[in-house]
Amino acid sequence: MKKLFIGGEWVAGAGNAVLPVICPSTGEVYDEVTRGTPQDIDCAVDAAAQALRGQWGRTTALQRGRWLTELSQEILKHRAELSQIEARDTGKPLTTAHNDVTILARYFEFYGAAADKVSGEVIPFESDYLVTLLREPLGITAHIIPWNYPAQMIGRSIAPALAMGNATVLKPAEDTCLSALYVADLAREIGLPDGAFNVVTGLGEEAGAALAQNSNIDFISFTGSNEVGTKIQAACARRPVKCVLELGGKSPQIVFADANIERAIPIILRAIVQNAGQTCTAGSRLLVQRSIYEGFVERIAQDFKKLQTGSYDMDLDCGPLMNGTQQLRVTNYIQEAKDSDIPVLAEGSIHPDAPKSGFYVAPIMFGPVEITAAIAREEVFGPVLSVIPFEDEQDAIRIANSTDYGLVAGIWTENGARQHRVARGIRAGQVFINSYGAGGGVELPFGGTKRSGHGREKGLLALEEVSSYKTLVNYYGE
Ligand code: NAI
Ligand code: MG
Repeated sequence: MKKLFIGGEWVAGAGNAVLPVICPSTGEVYDEVTRGTPQDIDCAVDAAAQALRGQWGRTTALQRGRWLTELSQEILKHRAELSQIEARDTGKPLTTAHNDVTILARYFEFYGAAADKVSGEVIPFESDYLVTLLREPLGITAHIIPWNYPAQMIGRSIAPALAMGNATVLKPAEDTCLSALYVADLAREIGLPDGAFNVVTGLGEEAGAALAQNSNIDFISFTGSNEVGTKIQAACARRPVKCVLELGGKSPQIVFADANIERAIPIILRAIVQNAGQTCTAGSRLLVQRSIYEGFVERIAQDFKKLQTGSYDMDLDCGPLMNGTQQLRVTNYIQEAKDSDIPVLAEGSIHPDAPKSGFYVAPIMFGPVEITAAIAREEVFGPVLSVIPFEDEQDAIRIANSTDYGLVAGIWTENGARQHRVARGIRAGQVFINSYGAGGGVELPFGGTKRSGHGREKGLLALEEVSSYKTLVNYYGE
């Protein structure tokens, strides 16, 4: 049974309840974590407050950077073991988990190196005044992360907050707590001051809600569903507290007739099947110019049919979905599309050796899909690709912008002026031209427009989100 990490120590929760750790590849329970209570959240927030009053609050930016750098190196030293733990816990293929752990380390490396490069400003003002803009930590930052990329999300959310000197409380998703607990142990080993990083495992509506409502936190970073994101923002409004929300997407890949098709196809496929489609940036809509539609679809279908799904240790293209709920949700979308007579263009397969009790869904590609269909508008969060034909640039932009989401887009064309026109016309936080970067890209500011959320993570912009600015006005005249 795994304990909670509060104030630099492993502690038992205030309640007696536990949550099962389930292997999505087999459905079997193989461990337990603590079902943290609202009292445990209060303890973790108190520990964070104490850290700010104590050693952590007095630490220099240089020293914070050194701790984060050391944590990054520790993660890399334990990469093989942590990848194995992450793959079994999430179901994702081992290669993907290995990549996620590398990116986790990269977050701590990037923000460790940035910690002592953050400075304020001197603002020109009236004579005999010195006005400085100081950058300070916000204080106690809360982090509620999802189950799709636990390792990456820990780094993305926590590393910039620590670099700026905040004290953090992390609530991992109930399905995937192990990597957060593992990182907590490494943080303890390198001697990160007590209470700078706390982990409380537990249910969203219990521990998560208690964290979002805690009156002593100063900030929340949330990644997950729109439904819960809306609740988080409502909870923030009551005090009020600042939040950054990352709520997923329905990202378009737009293929023009002049695109380099052979370069595009493997990237387009990976963008939808990576992590079995359970990716906020999944390229789940494939917009293809009508003049090449038939030939292109035939070509991509050839490769799509070869996609294979299996258990994490089989290390195929796709692993299982996270749990039975997600499996049912995705299966329902597929069934609804079939019932509406949307043509199936290609299907991948579930490997015969994949355990029957795992939460598998084979990749599937539909087309042509009307933009009003659920699979063209809603975040399916599974390996389901909707192919949609378009006529010209204006039509492509109109269709790309036709959902409530606006997270990422991919544009495939060799025409430079068109690349820019289309990129400027699309509402999204990131646009890729002749490439597509789900995951990684630690340097690249990332976040939503429209209902995909607000605020930015990754890159140096993330440091601004977790900074407070103090304008210091000093009159030095006689
Ligand atoms: P969720 O939004 O319920 O879970 C995300 C996190 O929020 C978890 O840590 C959970 O414990 C926490 N949470 C849940 N209820 C909460 C509450 N009332 N207060 C505070 N925290 C709470 O996501 P869920 O239900 O697991 O997945 C449903 C759908 O959400 C997916 O099918 C997908 O469409 C979307 N989703 C999007 C993600 C993204 O990366 N943008 C990640 C996960 C889910
Ligand atoms: Mg939920």
